[in-house]
Amino acid sequence: MITVRVPAKVNVQLGVGGLRADGFHDLANVFFAVALGDEVTATAAEGVTLSCSGPDAAAVPLDDSNLAARAARLLAAHHGIADPGVHLHIAKAIPVAGGMAGGSADGAAALVACDALWQLDTPLPVLLELAAELGSDVPFALVGGVALGRGRGEILEPLAVEGTFHWVFAVAEGGLSTPAVFRECDRLREEAGTGSSDTDVPTPDADPALLAALAEGDPVALAAALANDLQPAALSLRPALAATLRAGTEAGALGALVSGSGPTCAFLVKDAEAAAAVAGALRASGTCRTAHATHGPVPGASVAG
Ligand code: C5P
Repeated sequence: MITVRVPAKVNVQLGVGGLRADGFHDLANVFFAVALGDEVTATAAEGVTLSCSGPDAAAVPLDDSNLAARAARLLAAHHGIADPGVHLHIAKAIPVAGGMAGGSADGAAALVACDALWQLDTPLPVLLELAAELGSDVPFALVGGVALGRGRGEILEPLAVEGTFHWVFAVAEGGLSTPAVFRECDRLREEAGTGSSDTDVPTPDADPALLAALAEGDPVALAAALANDLQPAALSLRPALAATLRAGTEAGALGALVSGSGPTCAFLVKDAEAAAAVAGALRASGTCRTAHATHGPVPGASVAG
């Protein structure tokens, strides 16, 4: 039996370029891994089967559409294993369809767990390629820490970061579909008259002030540089998130933004004490389902114990 811990992510910068011919958008995506995470346990079994526990377990698909099952089958196929056998149990803490890459995290964790269970010793570069086939956010869940993702987010460059940053995540009622949020971003750009294709929108780049704030471990500077090009689209689809962002800011957060495609809202705070206070205020505000205090960066998917 192998248990793998895997982090959720928040995008401290999500620069979104134009719509490409393949349906994806070029990104300047600064991923930040946080301690709020899932655990995936692999045990030997007949066929590929899944189970899930946790408060949101009912929202997690347990069929072959789940990225954990797809990861197990992809790894097996890569090694010529015709009839893979594994049961994967997902202990779910990452909000489902929340913009924190929870499904991608489980895919990355399943790659690592099956690799260990089946004693395959797959080199990391190969695991990263398989991860990119599974989804744009899966490679980052393997590496963790803080990294700049280019292309559709899968071309990763680790970034220097000093110390620990403290975060609060406000979990919304219900999720948002990532493709729907990207489509809304394109629609808003068309409406604004700027155009939405990759010939209209300049390729985004990482913000030097944000990179400096990370390297210096400066939460005030990082808070000032937080930026998410998908935020207007998430707010357009879910206007109530404006009240959540306001509640966290009024409770003393240094900075606030929608996490990825949302609807989870992320709040950067000064320290662990401020995190507990802001999480408490958010829970009491009635503007979210629950709130979690956490920290990062933390490593990517790794075998526990
Ligand atoms: O790569 P992944 O399967 O997670 O992406 C889900 C969807 O999100 C894509 O089908 C696409 O609609 C959108 N997406 C995008 N540009 C990216 C990443 C994702 O448009 N860079």
